[in-house]
Amino acid sequence: MNKKVRIAVLVSGGGTNLQALIDAQKKEILKSGKIELVISNNSNAFALKRAEENNIPFEIIDKKNFEERLKEILQSHKIELIVLAGFTAVLPDNFVKYYDKRIINIHPSLIPSFCGKGFYGIKVHQAALKKGVKITGATTHFVNEIIDGGEIIMQKAVEVYEDDTAEKLQKRVMEFAEWIILPKSVEKVCEDIIEKIKIK
Ligand code: GAR
Repeated sequence: MNKKVRIAVLVSGGGTNLQALIDAQKKEILKSGKIELVISNNSNAFALKRAEENNIPFEIIDKKNFEERLKEILQSHKIELIVLAGFTAVLPDNFVKYYDKRIINIHPSLIPSFCGKGFYGIKVHQAALKKGVKITGATTHFVNEIIDGGEIIMQKAVEVYEDDTAEKLQKRVMEFAEWIILPKSVEKVCEDIIEKIKIK
């Protein structure tokens, strides 16, 4: 069997992006990597139900000794790629450096607009509507020490409508941008990782 990159998905909430990855795996849009583990910092995250329903092992890590536990769990599952899919906590600098080019994040705007500290979830769409932009979208990027500042992998634009509410816009950005570019980005990065292993 061909090598597949071992993926952990970090979640905090509903997990629709996790679902998009699971569906992509079933459809073989994601075929160079496999979701081996789901990790949450919130024991009530609906994302955990999605993991359970799809027979994906999951772990809940609380705030105490978070970084230490996270490292332990990732190492014991031999994780090679981390995907932040609606994960609310900021990862410590040394952790991010250790996993250089091995952590992907999905952000619900066209970076560099509406990103950085304090811009997450619905707040991003509220800010976009307040500014009156006519186009927004989603971005996947590698994670570095700067919040939402790492190298961009993919972006997809979505139109803003006159009668949009933040909730309507959030749903459109998810459906027409996030759930499409996240699986594609993860597949692309997995292909690149496998290619690098072959060259070595
Ligand atoms: C998604 O819209 C994701 O882009 C956003 O949180 C939502 C999680 O939804 N992430 C951020 O704002 C990160 N800065 P989900 O749990 O249904 O995937």
